[in-house]
Amino acid sequence: MRVTETSDQWWKTAVFYCLHVDTYYDSNGDGVGDLGGLAERIDYLAELGVTCIWLMPIYPTPGRDDGYDVTDFYGIDPRVGHHGQFVEIIRTAKDRGLRVIVDAVINHTSDQHPWFKAARRSVDNPFHDYYVWRSDTPPDTSDQVAFPDVENSIWAKDEKLGQWYLHHFYSYQPDLNVANPKVRDEIDRMLGFWLQLGVDGFRMDAVPYFVDDVETRAESKDHPEVPADPHQHLRDLRAFVNRRKGNAMLLGEVNVPHDQQLKYFGGQAGDELHMMFDFIGMQNVYLSMARRDVRPLAAALVDRPPIHPTCQWATFLRNHDELTLDKLTDEERQEVFAAFGPEPQEQIYGRGLKRRLPTMLGGDPRRIRMAYSLLFTLPGTPTLFYGEEIGMGEDLAAEGRMAVRTPMQWTSGRNGGFSTARPSRLVQRLTPGGYGPEHVNVADQRRDPDSLWSFMHKLIRAYRACPELGWGQFEVLEQPHHQVLAHRSFTDEASVVALHNFGPEPVTVELTLAQGCVDLVDLLGLDDLSTDDQGRVTVALEGYGFLWLRVHPPGTARLP
Ligand code: GLC
Repeated sequence: MRVTETSDQWWKTAVFYCLHVDTYYDSNGDGVGDLGGLAERIDYLAELGVTCIWLMPIYPTPGRDDGYDVTDFYGIDPRVGHHGQFVEIIRTAKDRGLRVIVDAVINHTSDQHPWFKAARRSVDNPFHDYYVWRSDTPPDTSDQVAFPDVENSIWAKDEKLGQWYLHHFYSYQPDLNVANPKVRDEIDRMLGFWLQLGVDGFRMDAVPYFVDDVETRAESKDHPEVPADPHQHLRDLRAFVNRRKGNAMLLGEVNVPHDQQLKYFGGQAGDELHMMFDFIGMQNVYLSMARRDVRPLAAALVDRPPIHPTCQWATFLRNHDELTLDKLTDEERQEVFAAFGPEPQEQIYGRGLKRRLPTMLGGDPRRIRMAYSLLFTLPGTPTLFYGEEIGMGEDLAAEGRMAVRTPMQWTSGRNGGFSTARPSRLVQRLTPGGYGPEHVNVADQRRDPDSLWSFMHKLIRAYRACPELGWGQFEVLEQPHHQVLAHRSFTDEASVVALHNFGPEPVTVELTLAQGCVDLVDLLGLDDLSTDDQGRVTVALEGYGFLWLRVHPPGTARLP
């Protein structure tokens, strides 16, 4: 890999930052964050160093699933702004060197979408076929629902039509019939529209549900025409998006076992999703932290299928949903619950936690920093959820997953500097208690060189200076301490070694890193090391300590 190649596939060394416009910054004092407010914060994001903003849905919506229930794929929720402001966001972001991707929610619409309203008028309506219907009584599908606290079937009956429609998520989110060529045309047209407005790609919501649940769709006897090759739809989408914009990227939400992941990348051809979230790696980070034993994480990383050079993993510790632990065994999940969320109100859906990372780690700054240092060295592209850079906590009293979607904490002032509205008018209340804005906010941390914000800033800068972390091959380095993950990301030209101590006790690690004597540049500090003439080095780590070392052979062109 040449360093000049990295510019062609920007997503392989990006730093993503996910935010919800309506909880980010309210510029007009109505209690709801808006695009005008985000525009005021683009410089902040550029300063932090992230390179791509991921906007959660901003489309018009009844708001029953926080915007993931869309009534107009071309619109913008008037509460957050209008298209003119959206274009301003894109232009301002571009000027500051930032890209923007938006959520594409194409598995389903809101039941208030005009297509669905028309669809349920009569079986002869041209829009009826936009959704997936069946006329016979569905079997018990309670084990397939996404939200078991609310739903008990993935089919809901329309009493007037006497038919059932498919909804993998809430019953007010009917699934689109992607076997219908008209629906696929609609999706292309919609993606094309946002590309034309300047986005650099899409976070693709709920991919396996619209690609691979062929069986369920085939059961709908009324419309048996499921596509012969369901992945052709995803291939077509990538081809379409890249015809319209060569460097646009699709980042998929695909939470499936390792042996099923490769097909969503398009197998060896690499012609479907460009990126996929590493849900399994994420879940095993928590298991390894709970056990203070890195073996589950190391196994999860080594077990990832090898992917095409144009594809990439998106790594993350938290997102806007529950911290799902669905890919762990029941016993493993209970271990994580016991360590990080033992109380029933901290758990959700029987499979996850509705907490943010700092509260789960008991606010221990050493452990929190170790976790984020790890995130930025995992092979892949790191993704942050707004507020992680300052260590925001959650509001357990908020409904379900909303616990982690509280307003951004800008200052210690009124409403955390998020809005000037009366607190009762806020889109959601601020996080209460010890993680509230009085204690955790951007304004204080940005000016404090020892804050979590400053630490994140440093991590982002270090990650961006090490393209081998995003592009390189990866190996776990052999050493005897189970509480330490030692790994190396490398290309032909460059190599970074990272060590992370998951345990509270100090530890000394011996590693062989080269054939002979090389310099080891401390990328986060000033404690450079070098190997002996056998290529060996001894590294001392504090409890929850970590270290990034660039292997720097003599004569290399890179700056030490
Ligand atoms: C995805 C989103 C989640 C949403 C669901 C239905 O899982 O991440 O927030 O509720 O899709 O659209």
